[in-house]
Parts: sequence; C-alpha cells; structure tokens
Amino acid sequence: MSLASPAPLARPALPDAQTVTAVTHWTDRLFSFRVTRPPSLRFRSGEFVMIGLLDDRGRPLLRAYSIASPSWDGELEFYSIKVPDGPLTSRLQHIRPGDQLILRPKPVGTLVLDALRPGRRLFLFATGTGIAPFASLLRDPETWERFEEVVLMHTCPRLADLEYGRLLVEGLADDPLIGEMMAGRLRYYPTTTQEPSARTGRITDNLVSGRVFADLAMAPIDPARDRAMVCGSLAFNLDMKAILEGCGLREGANSDPAEYVVEKAFVG
Ligand code: A2P
Repeated sequence: MSLASPAPLARPALPDAQTVTAVTHWTDRLFSFRVTRPPSLRFRSGEFVMIGLLDDRGRPLLRAYSIASPSWDGELEFYSIKVPDGPLTSRLQHIRPGDQLILRPKPVGTLVLDALRPGRRLFLFATGTGIAPFASLLRDPETWERFEEVVLMHTCPRLADLEYGRLLVEGLADDPLIGEMMAGRLRYYPTTTQEPSARTGRITDNLVSGRVFADLAMAPIDPARDRAMVCGSLAFNLDMKAILEGCGLREGANSDPAEYVVEKAFVG
C-alpha cells in the first residue's frame, strides 16, 4: 500500500490583494511605493483608500493612504512615513516588489476639486507626507482646466524630506498630459524647519508674516478668487484653518463646495 503525500495546506487568499511593483526609500523616515491597480477602481484625484497588511493573527491591519498617482495611471502610488513602533508602517516599510498588500477599493475624501467653488488661484498647503494627494491633483488635467494658477507650499523638517515633492514638480514640465498646459502656471514654495535651506520656517508663520507673498511677488489670499486645500498634521491643519478663515475663506465639502478643504495626513 502506498502512502499518498498529504496535499499542501492552501494559504488563505489575501482579501483585496494587490502586488507591490516598486519601492523607493527617500530617507530613513519616508518611502513611496507603487502597487497594481484593481481594474474596477475609479477615484477622483485627492482621494484616499484603506491599505495594509495582515497582522500576526491574520487580521487585516489597515490605514488610510492618499493616492499620490493621477487617476489615469495604470498603477497606484503611495507616499508614507515610517513610524518605528507604528503597528502598520513598522512592517509596511519592509515591503518589496512582488509582495502583496491589502487595498480596499473604496476611495473617499474631501481634498477633491468638486468640493471647491470655481476660482482663479489654487493654493495647496502640505507638511510632510501631506503632499501625497497633491501629487495626484497636480498631475490631473482638470486641476489646470479649473484654475489659472496653482501655488504648492510644502514644509518639512529637512531638505531630504522635500525631495519627493521637488522631483514631482520637476517632472511636471515633461508630463505628456499636462506639461504644456501647466507651463508657467505653478508656483512652488518649499520650506525647511530644522535644516537651513533657501527658504526656512513653517509655512504658517511665513503666511502670517506675509513673507510668502513678498518672496513670490504675489497678491495675498483673497476669498473672491482664491481656493485652498490643506493636508498635514492635526496641529498644522488647525493653524491653517484659522489663517484661511481669517482671510475670509469658508470650509467646503463634496455636498457643499466652498473656498477651502482640509484633510489630515494619515500616519500609519
Ligand atoms: P517643526 O519642525 O517646526 O515642527 P513631518 O510630518 O515630516 O514630521 O513634518 C512636519 C513638518 O511640519 C515640520 O517641518 C514641522 O515643523 C511642520 N509643522 C508641524 N506643525 C506645524 C504647524 N502647526 N504649522 C506649520 N508647520 C508645522
């Protein structure tokens, strides 16, 4: 009598699994990665989805991540902080091409063009990984159709933290879809708070002091023509809300568009 070898134990299929296609480590605190896109996923630039991994007990451990890639891209890109003892990012930072992660294909969020009334200038205010939704919006032709000028302001502790955004901005001019239409219409104002650079200080302080407007030879924020999107830490968002409301802008939503929208940059 021959003994049949036991059938291999089937590994439980990962729910909503997508495959990692590329990983870039920008600093010891920041990385970006690309994953396959579920064919059914439609999203508006600026929205986020839940992504994650299975924990040690096989349960999904998910966090909200803004989609950094434009809506026409065949893959999805994300930009993340690495939190050393963060339940998700302490593990997510080790992903490699070919690995699988969970991606729930239900995009949501308030940082969308539809939540803003028509205007002439669009201000994008970010700290740290809060630039991710703007990386999507800046590559969306609709942004450039709706606004004459876009002003991107990004504050990070160190110069290396700005690199993801700097390269994004640099690449826009060569973008086949929007390169020509956005030429000369983007103002980029990066600042560092912990390392000396060409522009230092929190963007909030530089707005209140008026330095930003002097540096860019630009008129101050005016609710009649200016719209704004804010994405950063909770404290940053609160400070920005106060500044924008002080300028006369009101917070908008999908159901009730107004002059500015805000979302927390999610930390894993
Ligand atoms: P600071 O160094 O003065 O705290 P990260 O998300 O990578 O930690 O970066 C946060 C960046 O945002 C830092 O440069 C930090 O400046 C800045 N920041 C933090 N809180 C605020 C705030 N309330 N207003 C403006 N900038 C802020």
